[in-house]
Amino acid sequence: MIERTLVLIKPDGILRGLVGEIIKRFEQRGLKVVGLKMVWIDKSFAKKHYAAHIEKDFYKGLEEFITSAPLVAIAIEGIHAVEYVRKIVGATEPKSAELGTIRGDFAHTSYKYSDSKGITIKNLVHASGSVEEAKKEVALWFTPTEIHTYKISQEKEIF
Ligand code: CMP
Repeated sequence: MIERTLVLIKPDGILRGLVGEIIKRFEQRGLKVVGLKMVWIDKSFAKKHYAAHIEKDFYKGLEEFITSAPLVAIAIEGIHAVEYVRKIVGATEPKSAELGTIRGDFAHTSYKYSDSKGITIKNLVHASGSVEEAKKEVALWFTPTEIHTYKISQEKEIF
């Protein structure tokens, strides 16, 4: 039940100075940051991360955007972490994301708008979609030595 999942704070989150605000949303829930780094990925790495989307119409815009500035990669650990993180992040399309979620509170665009402009939807974060995907994505972004095992101070109250 204790899972690890991957969160990326994408270039829009970095350029808007939302790194602290986004990490706070996970920490305040008691989820544990076990890996953290800033990376500027190239197109070849983008293709590895977004392999499932390469054939889609929006991929070109997505690749351009994700390689346009650095991003912050975070490995998060917690009880049912994959599901909780997705809940905290909100729906992929900011227009549909509930208020109170990261995308619902800080993003503002729709599929219709981004598709009409041929750009990717700017939704601040990526979060692994399933436990299987999380395992693959954490392994793609972090080496075993970059993942840390430690106890947070409220460990007993939260876990
Ligand atoms: P993410 O959670 O990183 O996973 C795939 C990304 O592709 C998604 O967030 C969006 O940024 C982008 N995306 C998905 N669907 C569309 C779409 N219809 N138009 C533009 N971008 C999209």
